[in-house]
Amino acid sequence: MKTWKGIILAGGNGSRLFPLTHVVNKHLLPVYDKPMIYYPLTTLMLGGVREYVVISSPAALGQIEALLGDGRQWGIEIVYRAQERAGGIAECFRIAEKDIAGCHVALALGDNIFHGAGMPRLLMQAMSHESGATIFGYEVSDPSAYGVVVLDEHNRPIDLEEKPKVIRSRLAVPGLYFYDEQAAGFARELQPSARGELEITDVNRRYLVAGSLRVTQFGRGVAWLDGGTHQDLYEASQFIKVIEERTGLKVACPEEVAWRMGFIDDAAFERLIDPNPVTDYQRYLRSISETSRRAR
Ligand code: G1P
Repeated sequence: MKTWKGIILAGGNGSRLFPLTHVVNKHLLPVYDKPMIYYPLTTLMLGGVREYVVISSPAALGQIEALLGDGRQWGIEIVYRAQERAGGIAECFRIAEKDIAGCHVALALGDNIFHGAGMPRLLMQAMSHESGATIFGYEVSDPSAYGVVVLDEHNRPIDLEEKPKVIRSRLAVPGLYFYDEQAAGFARELQPSARGELEITDVNRRYLVAGSLRVTQFGRGVAWLDGGTHQDLYEASQFIKVIEERTGLKVACPEEVAWRMGFIDDAAFERLIDPNPVTDYQRYLRSISETSRRAR
């Protein structure tokens, strides 16, 4: 039986968001009504992941830990590891090497936001494989800011490229990756790229060459956003606001996801809810707890 470990990479300098990130780590900035890191965390929780390694800069780690704690309140386990400098996404396998030894890894970038009814099914599908890697493809108008995957006429991956200058594919690869236990070994052998980073695209290429890279395309039903620039952050906040107001449901509440996934029972959920709600967030948790109790 394979064990999945979640890695949430919340490193980097957030230089494109300066001065917002001068003292606050990017992943703690608000995306409408929640800190950004809640979004990738709950994405992996929806896939059923219970054990996490959160990686960030030494300066930000304490604040992130103050926010998420050891995870026990949400029925999960979180440990924290420092990335000394922005050495690239694939460095996370080296940093977390001991934590993930022998495990499958679900890696989420801390600024990637996914939303859509199809997500839980896609996640569970990606996690159902015994071996190989699963990445996703998402059609974007400008792929030059991303890693892209090139598919053949049978939708099989034939090439990967990081930040392409010449556009051969509009399928960007979002920051959500599922690997078998070989990923750390592949990452150990990598050399830094021209931008001085260990590239996740190079890990994916190793799986491609080995013939064990699966690419699942997100359909129109899934939204993928990130919080990399001021505009991205603003748009992501607007998107979440519109969805939440329209549906009356919140996106990415760890308390709710933990409870709906059965990671915590009713009593533990109740304990997380403020008896005197003063914010919409608290009122929301109280209301879903009461509605569900009435429905039973
Ligand atoms: C990184 C990855 C890239 C991926 C993107 C998703 O880019 O290198 O392959 O498509 O995240 O957000 P970066 O954030 O380093 O520019």
